Amino acid sequence: MILLLGATGYIGNAFQEELEQRGENFHALSRTQLDYTHFEQLYPYLRKNKPSFIVNAAGYTGKPNVDACESAKADTLQGNALFPQVLASACAALDIPWGHVSSGCIFSGCQVETGQGWIVAKDMTDPEIRKIAKKSPARIRGFDETMTPNFSFRDQPCSFYSGTKALGEESIRGVGRNYIWRLRIPFDEQDNSRNYLSKIQRYAKVYDNFNSLSHRRDYVSACLDTWSQKIPFGTYNITNPGFVSTADVLKKIETILKPHRDFHFWENDSEFYSQAAVAPRSNCIMDTSKLLSAGIKMRSVDEALEQSLNQWQYEKS
Ligand SMILES: NC(=O)c1ccc[n+]([C@@H]2O[C@H](COP(=O)([O-])OP(=O)(O)OC[C@H]3O[C@@H](n4cnc5c(N)ncnc54)[C@H](OP(=O)(O)O)[C@@H]3O)[C@@H](O)[C@H]2O)c1
Repeated sequence: MILLLGATGYIGNAFQEELEQRGENFHALSRTQLDYTHFEQLYPYLRKNKPSFIVNAAGYTGKPNVDACESAKADTLQGNALFPQVLASACAALDIPWGHVSSGCIFSGCQVETGQGWIVAKDMTDPEIRKIAKKSPARIRGFDETMTPNFSFRDQPCSFYSGTKALGEESIRGVGRNYIWRLRIPFDEQDNSRNYLSKIQRYAKVYDNFNSLSHRRDYVSACLDTWSQKIPFGTYNITNPGFVSTADVLKKIETILKPHRDFHFWENDSEFYSQAAVAPRSNCIMDTSKLLSAGIKMRSVDEALEQSLNQWQYEKS
């Protein structure tokens, strides 16, 4: 039996649907049934039920966005750093393999080829980096799994949320047998306040930057494939290969959905941060070579975006 934690959440729900579609024997456990975040409740439950694998889609995300984590620091720390450590300890003690939903938001920027080698560019609003990303995308690549997070408590500034996600990874890496599955800005075809494609259509003004993105169902499917295909445990960036600017995404929305509105951008970072955001935001590009060379298939970000918009299902009001 596969045990699914966090199935009541946005990502956990997609895991539940995918496990159902695959006909897997699984059990979704909520904190309302058993507070699995406490070792003294979790450990006896795991010892008794002996899951063959655990999917951890539980964690603390600020709502409507990461700014909410700045004023809920104890919950954020507990959900994203302390709880994964508890789960890692219990799984290691019982030798249960598991996967943890992490985030690409522990990085900022990309790698850029300067003519003298690759360097990390942390700020992709830099006009020179923007020019390279638009005109010579081959000179841009993402962060790979060997690289140390540069948007964390150890490499500030960072949001409190990102800091706790990086600490969560640190606290479980190499403890027993686990996968760290990095997700980045989930989207799909279902209009939802948590869907990136819905969010950008509802913002009064949009923040233009470059990012890697994860189609929600592609992501959970790839995560489950890491286990079913028995690829080596470890960290994997699970985004749709490639990167897009917010302006590129809006162009696709305008072409395919033809919304009855014009989109406007924040003039610059200082206007965005003075009027629309509290915590620093991560914008980053992820390298998916490790995942792809392990044999896990992911379609390109452009294909996933276009398919989502072509099959767009408006939320019922
Ligand atoms: N959504 C995103 O944009 C995004 C992006 C990158 C990474 N992630 C990561 O994906 C995971 C799931 O995110 P999500 O968007 O699905 O979140 P969500 O909708 O808020 O759901 C999270 C679920 O986790 C469980 N949970 C366990 N401990 C919790 C705690 N301390 N506080 C709140 N909930 C807790 C809850 O389920 P029960 O109470 O029913 O057990 C809850 O339904 C998180 O680790 C998040 O960091 C999300």
